[in-house]
Amino acid sequence: MNQIAPDVATPPPYAPPADAVLLPWRRLAHPVEWSAAFGRRAPLHLEVGFGDGRFTARRALAEPDADFVGLEVSGTSVLRAWRRMRRDGVRNVRLLKAPAEVAVRQLFGPGVLASITVNFPDPWPKDRHEHHRLLRVPFFRLAATRLAPGGEIRLASDHEPYVAFAVAEAERSGVARRERRAPPPEVFETKYALKWRDQGKPLYYEVFVLDGTDVPYDPPIARSDPMPHALLTGALPTDAPVFEKLVVPADGGHVVVHEAARALGRDDRWLFRVTVDEGDLIQQLLVVAQRRTEGELIVRLESFGDPLVTPAARAAVAAVTDWLEGSVGLRVTARNY
Ligand SMILES: C[S@@+](CC[C@H](N)C(=O)[O-])C[C@H]1O[C@@H](n2cnc3c(N)ncnc32)[C@H](O)[C@@H]1O
Repeated sequence: MNQIAPDVATPPPYAPPADAVLLPWRRLAHPVEWSAAFGRRAPLHLEVGFGDGRFTARRALAEPDADFVGLEVSGTSVLRAWRRMRRDGVRNVRLLKAPAEVAVRQLFGPGVLASITVNFPDPWPKDRHEHHRLLRVPFFRLAATRLAPGGEIRLASDHEPYVAFAVAEAERSGVARRERRAPPPEVFETKYALKWRDQGKPLYYEVFVLDGTDVPYDPPIARSDPMPHALLTGALPTDAPVFEKLVVPADGGHVVVHEAARALGRDDRWLFRVTVDEGDLIQQLLVVAQRRTEGELIVRLESFGDPLVTPAARAAVAAVTDWLEGSVGLRVTARNY
């Protein structure tokens, strides 16, 4: 059997302690074994954009026999909600700082969710920003594969155009049926609900019942082992060549290499700061070029930041390798990305 060299081996997934409320989503096994994360098997509900977490905590305390996962992109909100769970002794909630479009695909296996709640999503009111809205056809179709048949997406909003948009997208998705239902009172008591209510705005509530039996299951992006890398012969020059920002198209997105810097105190290690975007997923990455053995260099994706090894992340390693070949004059002997 081929041994994977330690400098390119992928770290194993992280198994969180049973009482951890905040989970590092990129480091977990994908999909997550939620019964292990909660230490029991129970109905699993997801909330997207939980904000300060008051609805999440209240619902979790009211339903002790169910488990709740919250996704949120704002670090301040995550911190606030995490403190709330600790303060209120909420044990059946796990919070993750992650964008829902990607995390729903990565973290949940087929049919494991009972419901998805989206309270007061960012409305993105301008037409040209419509593609930022969460409740679009791709999300309905993805959610349909993660929800158990008959599972629901529940939407509360103050923004009538967003609600109309979501209703139309649900219909276009071919997997959702609109169901008229009165909102549970606590939905209109979130931080944002109270804010809009105080301003006299009407509030809307929609339930979509999903059936994804005919939607193919798009599995999580698999962890790659070894990490993408290339081997080159030669040495990094001591006088750094001029570096100009690189923008390279990648499969469905771009690689942008912003800057290159020599590691402090080392002549034999350079770091490249890179952004890759592909659809809903944007990642900040570090690609490193460093001496491996006498006369040999390795270029590889750093595990710092727990990157998802997507096609564009691989293309980032390729972009740096090509630059070292073309602009620094090193010779590539192996490309493994
Ligand atoms: C208007 S606030 C509503 C917060 C809370 N649900 C409430 O009702 O008070 C929308 C929240 O969604 C979060 N959010 C926006 N896009 C997101 C995404 N793609 N995934 C997860 N959370 C997101 C924002 O950071 C923000 O906290």
